[in-house]
Amino acid sequence: MQHQPVYVTEAKRLEQESAIEQILSMQERPKSFHIVTYGCQMNAHDSEKLAGMLIQMGMTEAADRRDADLVLFNTCCVRDNAERRALGNVTWLKEIKKDKPELIIGVCGCMVQQPQMAERILKQYRFIDLAFGTHNLHRLPTLLLNLLTKRTRVVSISDQENLIAEGLPVKRLNAHHAYITIMYGCDNFCSYCIVPYVRGRERSRKMADILHEAEGLLESGVQEIMLLGQNVNSYGNGSEGRETFPGLLRELDRLGVPRIRFMTSHPKDLSDELIDVMANSSHICNHLHLPVQSGSNEILRLMNRRYTREDYLRKVEKLRAAVPGIGLTTDLIVSFPGETEAQFEDTCSLVREVGYDAAFTFIYSPREGTQAAKMDGRIPEEESSRRIEKLIREVEASTARVHQSMIGKDEMVLVEGLSKRDPNKISGKGTRGITVTLDGSAEDIGRIIPVTITSAAVNTLRGERKER
Ligand code: SAH
Ligand code: SF4
Ligand code: F3S
Repeated sequence: MQHQPVYVTEAKRLEQESAIEQILSMQERPKSFHIVTYGCQMNAHDSEKLAGMLIQMGMTEAADRRDADLVLFNTCCVRDNAERRALGNVTWLKEIKKDKPELIIGVCGCMVQQPQMAERILKQYRFIDLAFGTHNLHRLPTLLLNLLTKRTRVVSISDQENLIAEGLPVKRLNAHHAYITIMYGCDNFCSYCIVPYVRGRERSRKMADILHEAEGLLESGVQEIMLLGQNVNSYGNGSEGRETFPGLLRELDRLGVPRIRFMTSHPKDLSDELIDVMANSSHICNHLHLPVQSGSNEILRLMNRRYTREDYLRKVEKLRAAVPGIGLTTDLIVSFPGETEAQFEDTCSLVREVGYDAAFTFIYSPREGTQAAKMDGRIPEEESSRRIEKLIREVEASTARVHQSMIGKDEMVLVEGLSKRDPNKISGKGTRGITVTLDGSAEDIGRIIPVTITSAAVNTLRGERKER
């Protein structure tokens, strides 16, 4: 059951506006900022909102963290290494602060939302001036004002977790491609995953707000919109069926945004209606990220994923029948507690059976507070390394097969930039999400170009512009 979201009230909005005014009137205020972002697209988009608010407070973005008066780390805690990397980089800044005492160091995002981590920051990381969790993002102006006026550390992780803050300013990183968050939080509680604990309960934005945002983006020349949510398929749960994900896609398709993508889709919620909308749309890309996590039914059960290998394969078959040429990508975890060699092999065979375009592969990382962290059967590190290396080889072989099969086909490529290796080449993504390089110049950036695929490299395809 989805919780009804509570929208940020007018009073709270005014409080933020007044904080911005006060900061702007201060002589001694930070003039530049730099944000370091870890984690998923959701976090990347949160950073765009943080940047938008800091710009409103009169600051400019510094390209290098060493030149900034305020450095903000927007953290992730989905796996242990994400957390360690963030803490390592924060600690590195402590040295810089010795020579530059006015430097403000802030940490925010998922890692901070964990109660034990907030505690640790208070006690062990005394050089951190400002810390706030995912539920307090929109309060950045007030938190910063408190820090600047009271000159004491500000740590804020509580507050209402089912809040939705509309209308925050956004400093978009890319002019042609934009993120729109359609829902927040997650209620799935996969047994390994910390996200439901740090992002709160599932809550969806109103369709009218999303469409309004999309219209604005379309007017500003955006070519591709990526809809974001931990489980976009349950968009609108709690609205008594009035607002659904297929319904939202239909409306967006009608608006005429050239390309629409979305992530992430939970396989258990991938409905026939959604497949139908994908099949009949003009603008939804023929790519789906459909995280399977494991190919073993027993492991899927322990993960609380609520589908079987067979359910998953049936949905893949339906998708491929309805949307010819659709590319599939996935997420895979090896060494879940108690995973046997045979169960691991089930994941390898699933990769071969589905034939993914690409996959993100992870070694299971125990997260405090989750169900799986209490399970027996930890797999030794050496064995996990062997498993992940083998799985990566399986995925690479699958990618190579897909890339080979693309040779001779036509693709529409949205040009993202100049190729890093050769300035006379440009690169971008086809509708399937695979990177394609071709001859071109800076003028092509942001255009959608028809291309014929001529050859395949390990991670990319090469193509030639089609004569029209
Ligand atoms: N909501 C999305 C993404 C969640 S996080 C989804 O359901 O797919 C992205 C990926 O991180 C997950 O798909 C999973 O493969 C991986 N992941 C999450 N928790 C993990 C953990 N404790 N250890 C290893 N990988 C994990
Ligand atoms: Fe985590 Fe599962 Fe929710 Fe994805 S669906 S965020 S893996 S709990
Ligand atoms: Fe994303 Fe990491 Fe948070 S994956 S939701 S930034 S824990």
